[in-house]
Amino acid sequence: MPDPSLLSLFVLHILCPLTMASAARTASRAFLRSTPTSSFRPAVRSTRFAISANGLRTSSRRGYASEAGPEKSGSSAGLWAVAIGALGAGGAYFYLKGDDSSKAQAQAKGPFVPAQADYQKVYDAIAQRLADETDYDDGSYGPVLVRLAWHASGTYDKETGTGGSNGATMRFAPESDHGANAGLKAARDFLEPIKAQFPWISYSDLWTLGGACAIQELSGPTIPWRPGREDRDVSACTPDGRLPDAAKDQRHVRDIFSRMGFDDREMVALIGAHALGRCHTDRSGYDGPWNFSPTVFTNEFFRLLVEEKWNQKKWNGPTQFTDKSTGTLMMLPTDMALIKDKNFKKHVERYAKDSDAFFKEFSDVFVKLLELGVPFKTDERFVFKTSDSE
Ligand code: HEM
Repeated sequence: MPDPSLLSLFVLHILCPLTMASAARTASRAFLRSTPTSSFRPAVRSTRFAISANGLRTSSRRGYASEAGPEKSGSSAGLWAVAIGALGAGGAYFYLKGDDSSKAQAQAKGPFVPAQADYQKVYDAIAQRLADETDYDDGSYGPVLVRLAWHASGTYDKETGTGGSNGATMRFAPESDHGANAGLKAARDFLEPIKAQFPWISYSDLWTLGGACAIQELSGPTIPWRPGREDRDVSACTPDGRLPDAAKDQRHVRDIFSRMGFDDREMVALIGAHALGRCHTDRSGYDGPWNFSPTVFTNEFFRLLVEEKWNQKKWNGPTQFTDKSTGTLMMLPTDMALIKDKNFKKHVERYAKDSDAFFKEFSDVFVKLLELGVPFKTDERFVFKTSDSE
């Protein structure tokens, strides 16, 4: 009879690569679930295949070849039966096919590099959540997602190259506590289940993708988007005061947006995002929406700005303006600055008349905003399909 130790090695050789590979998969899945950042994922994937396809097979083969010995007792018959059975059931697969598929596995699986289809899945998941979670504000988290993407990006300073969407530093105090960011926890929390579902995406990419998705899902223009942002730690938080103060005038608007690198036309186009959402007394202190369809992206903000008569609101809150016709809409002092300043006003009038021009120019400038200061490795931008496309 063959040596039982030889038989055990034979069984090990047949069974272990399968069992241990599956154990490695289970372990790495558990690791993926518990790993918050994307940077570990590629390493785990490649390690998994390195262990199952190469490491285990090589070591068991080496053991089998070097430990053949003389026949010993007859008590190994049962072990042989198991071994032969295993060879019949799984071993045949391993020897006849396993070699090829293992090689293919080893060759094909490098570090995980998400492709456009993977980002489309993230987009779809955000769009689905927007459609499901309608019990919020005017029925959509879309506007607050746009504001999150803007406040994450609008800290950029072109002189020092600091700030911008790369880093997602609003996850940390003190940036999360800056007055301008009040209320954005709702948007960050909204995206947490998406991050859990796709742990490989950085928060910085996710927040900007959330903004692009919200614009598109709320009937706005297409926002081509590209990945490549990396999360940074608390030390990259920007100082308070980089985002605009709604109580100020046109000089302030120009100062803040020039610091990011925008010209007058781009500033006006960007602020047209106030077609979406509303002000909240418990966040900024201001109150109310800018138009009657705050969950649909339109050029209404500009039309109302030039066509309505705006009076200062009489109340105990901060200075804001209200429409003469209904008294239910609002404008911020910085919004009014866009018609007080003649260089700003010409763009307001143009966008009020020409929705297509606004959509096109808004898309270009929003793409620019989301990319400020990001060291991209690719020029390729993705255009995502909306939830209502074929
Ligand atoms: C002078 C520039 C700007 C000022 C002073 C300003 C100020 C404000 C304020 C005070 C609010 C209300 C926040 C709240 O109470 O919830 C708000 C909301 C909003 N802002 Fe701006 N903003 C400016 C530019 C922009 C830009 C460039 C964008 C996007 C491209 C934007 C998108 C939004 C959106 C979508 C909301 C609604 C958020 C919601 O409904 O929760 N804003 N903004």
